[in-house]
Amino acid sequence: MSKPVQPTESSQLKSCCAALYQSDFVRFLLGDSFHPGGTRLTERLGVLLHLGPLSRVLDVASGKGESAIFLARRFGCKVVGIDFGVENVSEATRRAAAAGVADVTSFRQGDAEQIDCPDNSFDVVICECAFCTFPDKSKAAAEFERVLKPFGRVGLSDLTRSGPLPKELEGLLAWVACIADARPSDEYVDYLKAAGFKVLEIEAHDEGLAEMVRNIQGKLLSAELMLNLKKLDLPGVDLGQAKVLARSAAAAVRAGLLGYSLIIGCRA
Ligand SMILES: C[S@@+](CC[C@H](N)C(=O)[O-])C[C@H]1O[C@@H](n2cnc3c(N)ncnc32)[C@H](O)[C@@H]1O
Repeated sequence: MSKPVQPTESSQLKSCCAALYQSDFVRFLLGDSFHPGGTRLTERLGVLLHLGPLSRVLDVASGKGESAIFLARRFGCKVVGIDFGVENVSEATRRAAAAGVADVTSFRQGDAEQIDCPDNSFDVVICECAFCTFPDKSKAAAEFERVLKPFGRVGLSDLTRSGPLPKELEGLLAWVACIADARPSDEYVDYLKAAGFKVLEIEAHDEGLAEMVRNIQGKLLSAELMLNLKKLDLPGVDLGQAKVLARSAAAAVRAGLLGYSLIIGCRA
């Protein structure tokens, strides 16, 4: 496990990540679900975690609330979502009300490395496509353990990498795009074990990542076309850089360097 990054750098990374995932450009590229496999893999996570009407779930880095809303409807569970981005939290709250699940979901601003919830307060913690972006992964894993009840379960779904990546996948944009600090699934397992979890299951879903990268490449092409036809304005967006990142990510997925996994653990 590598050394955590410094505090100032750390809060900049979190803010930068939250800002990216609150932007219209990311919504254009990804829709409302910001992880490979969308709600299909969220459902799989829910099944592996044995969610049901009695489950009290914490969704760490809940984005626009898509997964929390889906889980509440599909499994009848109660879900609290926390996200670093204030606008994400407001939007998730609005979307949950529109979806008719405001009584069983709630969202608030928070930091995965310092979760503002009492000890032993949840049956399940999920964290989709975000653990890889946390500057201090040990602290986040320890927080998951602290807020879970004894024998509570954690479900991580995250990007995995199996070797060194090309230079263009190592920068800030790649970090907040979940790539630069992605780890081999064994390392995620080590973080969970060090925090006191027993790891029960690991499932590879690399095809979900391949599909997501293909969709992003298609969207970037249509954005370029619309820009050329002057039918779209993308202030502050470096489309060229985004295309380089997507092309390089697609090659890394094809080469088996980047993948996507679900990891289930149980608080010992
Ligand atoms: C790739 S998105 C995933 C969002 C959501 N889990 C989903 O799958 O749709 C990453 C999310 O992590 C959030 N985030 C980044 N750092 C965070 C932190 N330290 N604590 C809580 N949320 C964080 C961002 O605001 C963003 O919404």
